[in-house]
Amino acid sequence: MAQKPHCLAVVLAAGLGTRMKSELPKVLHEIGGLPLVGHVMQAVNAAGADRTAVVVGPDMPQLEAVVAQMDHAASTYVQVNRQGTADALRAAEPAFSGFQGDVLVVFGDTPLVQAQSFALLREKLSQGAALAVLGFEAKDPTGYGRLLMQGDELVAIREHKDASEAERQVTLCNAGIMAFKAEHLQKLLAMITNDNANEEFYLTDAVEHAVNLGLSVVVATAPEEEVQGINNRAQLAACEAVFQTRKRTAAMLGGVTLQAPETVYFSYDTQLAPDVLVEPNVVFGPAVEVASGASIRAFSHLEHCNVAAQATIGPYARLRPGANIGEGARIGNFVEIKNAEIAQGAKVNHLSYIGDASIGSKTNIGAGTITCNYDGYLKHKTQIGENCFIGSNSILVAPLSIGDGVTSAAGSTLTRNVPQDALAIARPQQENKEGAAPRIRARLEAKKRAKTK
Ligand code: UD1
Ligand code: CA
Repeated sequence: MAQKPHCLAVVLAAGLGTRMKSELPKVLHEIGGLPLVGHVMQAVNAAGADRTAVVVGPDMPQLEAVVAQMDHAASTYVQVNRQGTADALRAAEPAFSGFQGDVLVVFGDTPLVQAQSFALLREKLSQGAALAVLGFEAKDPTGYGRLLMQGDELVAIREHKDASEAERQVTLCNAGIMAFKAEHLQKLLAMITNDNANEEFYLTDAVEHAVNLGLSVVVATAPEEEVQGINNRAQLAACEAVFQTRKRTAAMLGGVTLQAPETVYFSYDTQLAPDVLVEPNVVFGPAVEVASGASIRAFSHLEHCNVAAQATIGPYARLRPGANIGEGARIGNFVEIKNAEIAQGAKVNHLSYIGDASIGSKTNIGAGTITCNYDGYLKHKTQIGENCFIGSNSILVAPLSIGDGVTSAAGSTLTRNVPQDALAIARPQQENKEGAAPRIRARLEAKKRAKTK
């Protein structure tokens, strides 16, 4: 069997995205918590690209950093003057000169394209095409390049501004994604001029040049929803909606119950095991993992945290980075957990803040308990053992260590360590003055009478 050809993906992302009206380069805006460029890089990886090059603008250090973070083997190339998509691809020439295989050219602002569509284009190359273009049927083709066909062969792509009235009637449009056989790419790029309405070097002109060289140029198609690009915040929201629908569907097909799927927000990397139950209005920020049988109840917010099997979170709970909730543990309403281990079967059920702490298994934390983890300069740790009972409205001033089996009295402010099995009480003594209440009432009554006279 012939060896699979190598594949280089070039992501064009040097555009300024002025219509986003943002300080941030367009492709750094996020969908599901991942920058647009990250979605594209993930999809080309999944389609078998073994190298990725990203073309960036001269003023985008943040974008270069994100690319490196996504894939430390990816290279970035700077397009100095933004003179069109062919000029952008030329900037990445060192990545493909001498390269043998498939070159996928994709836009950084088209985040919903699926690996399968890239694979379709590569299949066309393996069947003998020199160039394959991803097309779609546009409901409204205004602004898009039109695909001009002769039978099964693509003969040209005409940009909207350069198209005749007759060509503008064509609804089959260019999604902007192309696959080239590497051996033809440099020659085709060299043939492209900027003789058009925009005076830009259009990558789409590669089609006519290839046809003139007698090469085969074909089209594969994808649904419009998948190839929609982002130019403004409204389109960003539209893509977010499609992404969320995909994640919700995937979760449900994976065995997760979503009682009101349209109200649950996912991040790109949310991992929910089968038999997780998610009630309405839950937000999953990045890096959340929930194990089988756990329930995430209504109006909870989770990010960078783990929830073990059979645990219950919420309603109205907040799990912040580093929250690690053990098997069968319960985190109740208006409870915030940050950077804390809550061991198996422990309960923090009401109105509490637990930060920089570890809570042993089966320990019960009473309502309104606060770990005072911050003194204004440094963070300190609170350690609580197993099978403890921490009374309601406790103030735990860290650093603090509480042994196993401790009971602490409600309303205590604990500032000193508590040994195993001790009862800790740290609150003013109560005093009862017998029969004193009527005397006080009589005195107050007389005062009131004197005043209203
Ligand atoms: C492009 C296509 C058009 C297609 C449409 C699909 C060309 C000439 N036109 O048009 O046929 O229907 O996409 O959405 O290719 N970029 C650079 N450097 C540049 C110019 C662009 O890196 O100098 C990048 C942009 O960051 C963006 C992508 O290339 O990611 C597309 O550029 P854009 O200007 O949005 O092209 P369109 O006019 O939308
Ligand atoms: Ca565009």
